Amino acid sequence: MIRSDQHLVLVGMMGVGKTTAARVLADRLGRAVFDTDMVIETRSGSTVREIFAEQGEPKFRELESKVLAEALASPEPLVIAAAGGVVLSAANRAALADSGARVVWLCADPVNLVERVRGGGHRPLLDEDPAGTLQLMFREREALYREVADAIVLVDNRSISEVVEAVLR
Ligand code: S3P
Repeated sequence: MIRSDQHLVLVGMMGVGKTTAARVLADRLGRAVFDTDMVIETRSGSTVREIFAEQGEPKFRELESKVLAEALASPEPLVIAAAGGVVLSAANRAALADSGARVVWLCADPVNLVERVRGGGHRPLLDEDPAGTLQLMFREREALYREVADAIVLVDNRSISEVVEAVLR
């Protein structure tokens, strides 16, 4: 079980349902949600897509690291929906480990994510060949999610409430 002074951080690939699960978990735990993509968008006044297009992915990753560090430094225990790419940076992985937060990897077969990411939105990296890109990303990131995770919750064929119960367990 999560301690009342620990952040709960959800990590995992695009489309696994981090944002939705984080909202329900925050409600259940009586906490605020901190969604890294949303905070970046609010702060910068630009969408994730605009930041990628106008300033490039490295700038986005810089903002992402700042916002993650800010969330982890919050004295108030949060439910943090960490965008899919946070594990790419060794500094972010170290920050997660050092923070004492409970990190849960929401894990899905990338084949099952293709439907869920349809529509573009804040995921410009999937504009071309989403299925192939998701497979490749999963291969590149699987070990990194595993490295930061205290627990793994499989989300394939599970409803959001089943996922939430599994995370709480
Ligand atoms: C990304 C995940 C996205 C968003 C950006 C890049 C990634 O967030 O930050 O498009 O590299 O995995 P979600 O994981 O919330 O979809």
